[in-house]
Amino acid sequence: AEPEGSDYGQYDFIVVSNRLPVDRVQEDDGGTSWRRSPGGLVTALAPVMAKTDGAWIGWPGSANEVLDPFDHDDMRLVPIPMSDDDVELYYEGFSNATLWPLYHDVIAPPEFHRAWWECYKRVNQRFADATAKVAADGATVWVQDYQLQLVPKLLRELRPDLKIGFFNHIPFPPLEIFAQLPWRRQVIEGLLGADLLGFQRPSDSSNFLRCVRRFTGHPIKSQHVNIKTESGTRICRAGAFPISIDVAQINELANRPDVIERARQIREELGNPKTVLLGVDRLDYTKGIGHRIKAYGELLEDGQVTVEDAALIQVASPSRERVESYRLLREEIEASVGRINGTYDTLSNTAIRYLHHSYPKEEMVALYLAADVMLVTALRDGMNLVAKEYVASRTGVNGALVLSEFAGAADHLKQALLVNPHDIDGLKDAVMRAINISPGEATRRMRTMRRQVLQNDVEHWSQSFLRALQAGPGAEAEGEDR
Ligand code: G6P
Repeated sequence: AEPEGSDYGQYDFIVVSNRLPVDRVQEDDGGTSWRRSPGGLVTALAPVMAKTDGAWIGWPGSANEVLDPFDHDDMRLVPIPMSDDDVELYYEGFSNATLWPLYHDVIAPPEFHRAWWECYKRVNQRFADATAKVAADGATVWVQDYQLQLVPKLLRELRPDLKIGFFNHIPFPPLEIFAQLPWRRQVIEGLLGADLLGFQRPSDSSNFLRCVRRFTGHPIKSQHVNIKTESGTRICRAGAFPISIDVAQINELANRPDVIERARQIREELGNPKTVLLGVDRLDYTKGIGHRIKAYGELLEDGQVTVEDAALIQVASPSRERVESYRLLREEIEASVGRINGTYDTLSNTAIRYLHHSYPKEEMVALYLAADVMLVTALRDGMNLVAKEYVASRTGVNGALVLSEFAGAADHLKQALLVNPHDIDGLKDAVMRAINISPGEATRRMRTMRRQVLQNDVEHWSQSFLRALQAGPGAEAEGEDR
């Protein structure tokens, strides 16, 4: 902590992310309070926050909300306000209609608008200013994700004393795609303000380094970028630190009698079919939900599955609903689910239970326990934590995971039934293999996958990143899984 009157703030460890890790809850008496969000990131970082003097900087999630900093769960929360324009231009626009599709293999066409970029710069500056104000001398700052790629550089300009880390939760695109971005050099320079840049897969890290080589003049030696400063050179390292889940939490839920009972009830409500298949995604075009539904529709048409023997549950949680490509996707998915159900449903059975909701973790784990087959068919995904949650939930060491090779999780879950979701015949074969897998083979595959997930939880991830950040450029910049 800093003495009174110093220009520095008092917090030694600061996380900066677009959203604060809390959700607003409505109390019975009409007031509101905050509850910690379900994400793994906050679970991993809360203990670090409690041990050090920790603060989290982020947007409370609605427009025109101006809130004073407050304490919650041993953390200082510093809310960053956003106007209607900021939400439209910085969040829905540049973050989710430019960067998101560009970084996910241009599955949807990215839009490039100068007014969006100007707003992205302004909002990134606002996050950097707020961080500079609360950080103690020499504090560690960890910036999260694609919405805030300019913060490392902006923050270093204000506070060269800080140790700055950045983690990109989504893919980093190949040079040939990144090159489309009109502000490609500024984004790269923004990231290079960090001491350590973490990516999900080694390929994301090497994509980034190729872009550094092409769009800047900084010399690169293996994973180190050498940046000239007034006082000498500074090193920015890049490496892979694959994120994971809160294994203990999932395990606790998967063993809870009420959750196990709920899983039984779900199967019963479906009419106890031989096979329950499950998909769980944000309703996002990167998730390959349409490919999965197409494959399933064809299996029904071929008669390889019937509505009596099999039920597919598709949870699609609402996401970014004011962004055009998300609206279009919803119409497309709901039209195809409606067509398939209209064709194959009977009065007592439904082909696809489509649920446009989000559910608490308890219900999600009950669904994982109820599902014989989990379908993760992303067209591109930084990691995909649903795949890891399914594996962690399968305490019976059974069940089959169909997993896209385009999800980061495929690097580690090699015993899944790996698929290219663009290959509809291949996807259909993998779904049938999963439905018909022998108990022995299912257990062999699941045992190996469980070992991988259980040994590499989200705390292992955050600690290996923070250790590498503290260790400095002499150390290896890799958070390889155990
Ligand atoms: C992905 C991103 C996160 C983002 C989340 C939900 O996981 O990597 O940064 O917070 O999606 O999206 P939203 O736009 O609702 O924050």
